[in-house]
Parts: sequence; C-alpha cells; structure tokens
Amino acid sequence: MSCEPDAPARTTRPDPQPGRTGSGRAHAKAILLGEHAVVYGAPAVALPLPGLSCTASVVFSGQPGHGLNGYGQPDPAGGAAGSGAGSQAPLELRHLVESTLERFRPGEVLGVDLVLENSIPVGRGLGSSAACARATVNALGDLLRLGLRATDVFDLVQLAEARTHGRSSGIDALATGSTRPVLLAGGRVSAPRVGAAAWVVVADSGEFGSTGEAVALVREVFRRRPGRQAEFVSRSGTVTARALEALASGRLDIAGRQLTRHHRLLASLGLSTPVLDRLVDGALDRGALGAKLTGGGMGGCVIALAGTPEDANGLAAGLVRQGARGTWIASIAERGRDD
Ligand code: PMV
Repeated sequence: MSCEPDAPARTTRPDPQPGRTGSGRAHAKAILLGEHAVVYGAPAVALPLPGLSCTASVVFSGQPGHGLNGYGQPDPAGGAAGSGAGSQAPLELRHLVESTLERFRPGEVLGVDLVLENSIPVGRGLGSSAACARATVNALGDLLRLGLRATDVFDLVQLAEARTHGRSSGIDALATGSTRPVLLAGGRVSAPRVGAAAWVVVADSGEFGSTGEAVALVREVFRRRPGRQAEFVSRSGTVTARALEALASGRLDIAGRQLTRHHRLLASLGLSTPVLDRLVDGALDRGALGAKLTGGGMGGCVIALAGTPEDANGLAAGLVRQGARGTWIASIAERGRDD
C-alpha cells in the first residue's frame, strides 16, 4: 500500500473469477547479426527459437497483498527449486507485475501468484529474461482480460529488460514474441528478405554470460577509447548490411563469411571467451558457412550457419563432440519482399 500523500486510494476488489488462470507464452531467440551495436542504433537481426520457451500461469492470490504474492519456478528435473513467496521472485518480475497492474488497473489492490516454466537456458544469450517477462505480461493480460496491444506488451517487457540489463535495444523484447526473423533498423521493425532457406545451429558453451555485464563492458571500452564507439557501430552496420544483401540474394556463403567477421568484431571488444572461440573455430573446421557468438557474449552460445538440414545436423553433432552442452537448430525460411 502506498503512503504517498497524493497517491490515489486503492480499492480492494473480491476475486472477480475464482479459480481463473491466466496463461502466457514466449520463446527464445538468437541474434544473427548486430548485437551490442544495436544498443547504439545499428541494425540487428534476431531469429525466433520456438523450441525453447517460457510459459507463465497466474491466478488471483489466496493471500492478502498487492502485486506478486506467490512465485514458483518448478525445477525441470522434478524438484521445487525456486518456488516460494513473492519476495523470492526476481526483483524485475515483481516490478513488472506491479507496473502492469499500476498501468492497467490503477488504484486497485490485486495480488497474484505466478508460476513460470522456463526451458530457455539462463545467461546464454537466448533471451530468457525477455521471454519470461513477455510470458508474464501475456498471462496477466489473459487473467485480467486487459486486451493488451502489441505495443503495450513491448513497453512492459522493455521496462523489465532495462532493469535486468541496463540499456536495452528492444531486439529481445521483439524477437521473443515473433514467429519470423526480426530486423530492427533505425527504430523500424521488419522481416529480412531471404533468397535461400538456411539453417542456424545454436551451441551452448555451458558458460554463464551476464548480458548486463557485457553491455557495461562495452560502454566502458567506449568511454575509455574515444572514437571506438563510432568505429564499432559503423563496422557492425557494414557487416550486417552485406550479410542481409547476401541473404536476400541466396548467397549463404557470403552471408556466412559476414557472420564470422562479426564474431571477430565482437571479440575485439572483449566479448568472446576461449571456449566460444574454440566452438566458432570448430564449427568452421566442420564446414559451417560462418559462425559467431550470439547475444551478450562473455559466455553463452555460438551460432553456425548451414545450407542444408543435413549439414546443420552434422554440425550440431560435431559441436557436441567438441564440448557444447546443448544444441538447437533454427530454420530461416525463404521469404520475398511481399511475403
Ligand atoms: O544476451 P541477450 O540474449 O540478452 O542479448 C542481448 C543483446 C544486446 O545487443 C547485447 C543487448 C540489447 O539490448 O540489444
């Protein structure tokens, strides 16, 4: 309950529909091109990974109180890890629930219990935090019949992302809710043209990488070295533009080479690790058209481009032999300007 003198008085309403559950879902994403530079305005492309997802279920809380009262995140292995009172929920989720209620049900006392089932590995650059935020907002929208627009959901997910990572471009918030590849360029969202179907293997290094720390590291490099920001943003923009052109004309070999260039660019900022470098080199040795780290870096995953599903399967198996903790394959469907 707020004690601010001019805060509107809250009213407690009885549970409007006892037993009703709201549910929401969002999936993982992998950034194909442009991570970090996108925070400074350069274009970026992200791919949905629908096989990895977060589902949220919310109910009106049995306990008195406002906001997130109960929270649980069942352990996929069958334990009860992460379940407990609202105070044990990640802070950004508590804020997210409060912000959503504040915006759409101002002045009401509403307590909810949330359960998240998340198959997206955390700290691997696959958009786990954005997907959990999006699933939660969608579940609240469903429970309270808020009729949320896409922009409402995006704004709320961005609010949570800003708390988790500091400065956030919005590419994760968009891609975790899109069924198609997402191109974010100059503040506009579109789908990239694809002249030949392609397959992307995502391989988990097993190393935890904090996106917040990675974004802060890049900011510090730019602060210490004047001119470095403009140089990085310009190079990233060029690599991304060439890769998009190659992708549109079906030249996967050229697109792949740009991916590898992109890895070197990110590594030059200190975002790679020896394990990520080894996976990238291993993917190239095994015939990948290109490979790079994906997402925030300093751990997490690499992606490798393949021209056929067979090549992608072979690459995935090879990367597991090389120590990858898990692999997933995403396809990029052929797509013209008007599809
Ligand atoms: O590590 P992830 O999945 O959160 O990806 C972050 C992408 C960045 O470009 C590093 C940050 C951003 O907000 O775009």
